Amino acid sequence: MNLTQEINKRRTFAIIAHPDAGKTTLTEKLLLFGGAIQTAGAVKSNKIDTATKSDWMEIEKQRGISVATSVMGFEYQNMKINLLDTPGHQDFAEDTYRTLTAVDSVIMVIDCVKGVEIQTEKLMEVCRMRNTPVICFINKLDREGRDPYDLLDEVEEKLNISVRPLTWPIGMGKSFKGVYNLYDQQLNLFTPSQRQLSDDRQTFKNLDDSKLDDLIGGNNADQLREDVELIEGVYPEFDVNEYLEGKVAPVFFGSAVNNFGVNEMLDTFIRIAPKPKSRNTEEREVLPEEKNFSGFVFKIHANMDPNHRNRIAFMRICSGTFERNKPYNHVLGSKPLRFSNVTQFMAQDKEIIDQAYPGDIVGLYDTGNLKIGDSLTDGEDLKFVGIPSFSPEIFREVINKDAMKTKQLEKGLKQLMEEGVAQLFTFDIGSRKVVGTVGQLQFEVIQFRLKNEYNATVDFRPMNLYKACWISSKDKAQLEEFARSKSRHIAKDRDGKLVFMAESKAWLQMVQDNYPEIDFHFTSEG
Ligand code: G4P
Repeated sequence: MNLTQEINKRRTFAIIAHPDAGKTTLTEKLLLFGGAIQTAGAVKSNKIDTATKSDWMEIEKQRGISVATSVMGFEYQNMKINLLDTPGHQDFAEDTYRTLTAVDSVIMVIDCVKGVEIQTEKLMEVCRMRNTPVICFINKLDREGRDPYDLLDEVEEKLNISVRPLTWPIGMGKSFKGVYNLYDQQLNLFTPSQRQLSDDRQTFKNLDDSKLDDLIGGNNADQLREDVELIEGVYPEFDVNEYLEGKVAPVFFGSAVNNFGVNEMLDTFIRIAPKPKSRNTEEREVLPEEKNFSGFVFKIHANMDPNHRNRIAFMRICSGTFERNKPYNHVLGSKPLRFSNVTQFMAQDKEIIDQAYPGDIVGLYDTGNLKIGDSLTDGEDLKFVGIPSFSPEIFREVINKDAMKTKQLEKGLKQLMEEGVAQLFTFDIGSRKVVGTVGQLQFEVIQFRLKNEYNATVDFRPMNLYKACWISSKDKAQLEEFARSKSRHIAKDRDGKLVFMAESKAWLQMVQDNYPEIDFHFTSEG
């Protein structure tokens, strides 16, 4: 197979959801269809047990499981599908944001009882930044959920994307009868079963057919006729190009645990989801079909054992063919790198591979050379853009408790930040170091790992900070002047970018009003 054929058969996506909406269940059903697993229950949830929520060691152990399930490859209808896992725990949200930079589309799961939840909103924001195409799966129709029209309105409102239902539910909860496929004009009858692999579908080109009344009952049939008429009247016809531009999300209804409606969604996904897309670099756009290889690292998983400080770097291949044992240009690195241990993840297994193609995700064993956002290429210096950093929510100053171990501390902090555990800001004045995170948990993780792996002892002093804002201005002199006049509040991130550390919302607003020529950003794209 040539490169173009390899690219055309790949689909790389992630499932995003608020915890408990059914991401793990849906993943499992997709893998069952792909024949990648044989039994239900084979996919481990990356959810953190409530019982262990405060015990981060236990959490890391559980996260260890998620290395194996970080990428799940499977074949379906001659396509090679790469499904990337996204951590559910909100303290690891940054991991998820970065993972989304490595996919070409997403499937979003929404619980029909709970509607659009907060984590989904945040994840969708990231998708919108990159116009990522989204398919929406409204789950748990076997439960008494909200009115489907209300759910669709909520998706449009809260997630700021147009929707187009492609299936429509008949009843819900105890009276759930099935879904009608508006696209194929097929009725899919619901039978609760965790094992069923094929749906019971019947074609109804004409909904006035009285057979419909026999199958789902007169009232349901009338309701469906009314709904279909309304939907066809209200929603414009589904336009694949609008979906590919991230403007409209096709919506499916179903029940993941009963494997109902999943097949229909997967078949549509195969038909419409984008193949590996081009990626932007600071220098130029990179097309997957280019002969020369390029890729970027979006996730690093550390080995917790201090005696083996190797880590696995996850790389998305963007162009060309990646080969094992071939030396590659490590952009901005000090030397070329070659990898003898290149892993591809297939459902529950991983295997060493010799080649990988655009859209593929490979695991590279690394001893500390690679960091998140790094590019590898055949020679050209390309720096991929779009890996986001968000302003952390909690800030604490690092207090070194053992002056003899300053070097170890610096090294440890640097490496942990490279893995993306948290963000480090260094104040211009006094070189005070501040760690910013999205969750409480990371401070415990950092403290323990610094001690365990680097023999450095730290404490964290709480800081009263509201947000870290990356600042820029068209007018260089103004920016310098601003940084000078606010020097007590200016820090640098790990890339040396200027950051304004705002103490409160009101104060930030005042500063923004007083300095209209300065742009304040809550995200930074590395
Ligand atoms: P997540 O990965 O998004 O966090 O969710 P997960 O798949 O683990 O599903 C969360 C819970 O919702 C699970 O129940 C799961 O069985 C249930 N669920 C998933 N899909 C459906 C569905 O279509 N209908 C109904 N009624 N429930 C569904 P649990 O009690 O937390 O775990 P379990 O012991 O049942 O596995």
